[in-house]
Amino acid sequence: YNVPVAKNEPVLSHAPGTPERAELQAKLQELRSEELDQPMVIGGKEVYTDRKVRMFPPHEIAHTLGYFNQGDASHVEMAIDAALEARECWANMSWQHRASIFLKAADLLAGPYRAKINAASMLGQSKNAFQAEIDAACEFADFLRFGVQVMTEIYKIQPESAKGIWNYNEYRPLEGFVFALTPFNFTSIAGNLPAAPAMMGNVAVWKPSKTAVYSAGVIMEIFKEAGLPDGVINLVYASGPVAAETVLTHPEFAGIHFTGSTAVFQSIWKTIGENIYKYKSYPRIVGETGGKDFIFADNTAKKRELAIAMLRGAFEYQGQKCSAASRCYVPASIWPEVKEIFGAELATVKMGPPEDFTNFVNAVIDESSFDKLKGFIDRAKDDEDAEVIFGGNCDKSVGYFVEPTVILAKKPDYITMQEELFGPVLTVYVYEDEDMDATLDLLDKTSIYALTGAVWSQNRYNIEKIAKRLENCAGNFYINDKPTGAVVGQQPFGGARGSGTDDKAGSIFNMLRWTAIRTIKETF
Ligand code: SER
Repeated sequence: YNVPVAKNEPVLSHAPGTPERAELQAKLQELRSEELDQPMVIGGKEVYTDRKVRMFPPHEIAHTLGYFNQGDASHVEMAIDAALEARECWANMSWQHRASIFLKAADLLAGPYRAKINAASMLGQSKNAFQAEIDAACEFADFLRFGVQVMTEIYKIQPESAKGIWNYNEYRPLEGFVFALTPFNFTSIAGNLPAAPAMMGNVAVWKPSKTAVYSAGVIMEIFKEAGLPDGVINLVYASGPVAAETVLTHPEFAGIHFTGSTAVFQSIWKTIGENIYKYKSYPRIVGETGGKDFIFADNTAKKRELAIAMLRGAFEYQGQKCSAASRCYVPASIWPEVKEIFGAELATVKMGPPEDFTNFVNAVIDESSFDKLKGFIDRAKDDEDAEVIFGGNCDKSVGYFVEPTVILAKKPDYITMQEELFGPVLTVYVYEDEDMDATLDLLDKTSIYALTGAVWSQNRYNIEKIAKRLENCAGNFYINDKPTGAVVGQQPFGGARGSGTDDKAGSIFNMLRWTAIRTIKETF
């Protein structure tokens, strides 16, 4: 049961003069200059339709990257059929052969495909080179390598036997197919949602976000080159409701691996409930959804480090991480200094297209996100309960650019302290130092989500007290750090309340959901 010990893929700096930078720049040029006609991949076949949807960089609306071929319910059905056809061979393939495919895919990502997957994520999802590297190349390779290792750890879990009795667990895939419904914000998560069940011997129908189809095509290319048999993962572009309706009413539907909005996940859960009599087994429902992630500082917090954590936590990848810091509680006694440091650092941050490597902030993903963010920012400008203290400008003439913005909330339950905006907007509430306990109570009460959170303090009693008081407010809790950047194998990721099923991506807890265990007792 020994596979190569999983190690985190080292992050390349892409600093000026490095070979990886030159390679990435050349790949960006190459991809920008071609117009892709991107097919669905069903049963290993490229499928084209006459409904071509234009793909463009969110930071440069006028530039065409290509077109993807939009499918409909019939294509989703084709994908289900192809998955079911592949199921028997795949389910019976030895785990070593399954493992070797995903280990090879990880090496392809970290090696010959590194520049391509990074460039596709930069162009298609407007990520800067560093954000693309930590996600598309490194985190994705980590998901695959740790996933394979975790699979073997699961297979080693065996029951006790007794005199004259031999007990053992057989780890079978689920009966049917798994539906992977994936987000735009992490290329690694998009790839891992179909890959994790597939490692465990399942077949999958994969519907990516319409705003991340471009990198999804590269992921399929890598899986194919790694030797994944046709039909094990089927990539289909259909509208979310059409795909969900077709998949969730199918008798062979065995589970969903989801990352996306809370509202969509709740409606999927409801549809599964309505169709429960149709299925052979109770479907596995694994989802990571929204967040309203917090930083809570006390008056002993290190001010410079706190200001940097606020900035990075809130504005890296334009705040479009489910883990992004979007509300911050700072005591009045340290706020003036924290604000000054934060302002000085923010003044050095550049916004623009990711092809210019000096830009830290790029565009938000699409027009509806832009409009939503602008709406909340404009509302805060006019609202007597709020004040926009940094940023606040939005411009969609070239791309969907929203300036990193800080709203000062005069009330701790101000709307942007509670609602998930999913963009570069941080709301700060300054509390009176003596009101720390009441502020903690309020934070808990207003946490309908519970994904990530951070405490900043140098007082160990306070750290312990705050960690205990907020124990239900975050599945990933950070002490003196930003609340983003969980690393596979180091911080298993996921939260509860409105944030998901807390199955911890990239860990044994998640992988256990993709196996149906048969326990066998033999009496001698
Ligand atoms: N794993 C990412 C992070 O921790 C979010 O999905 O930032």
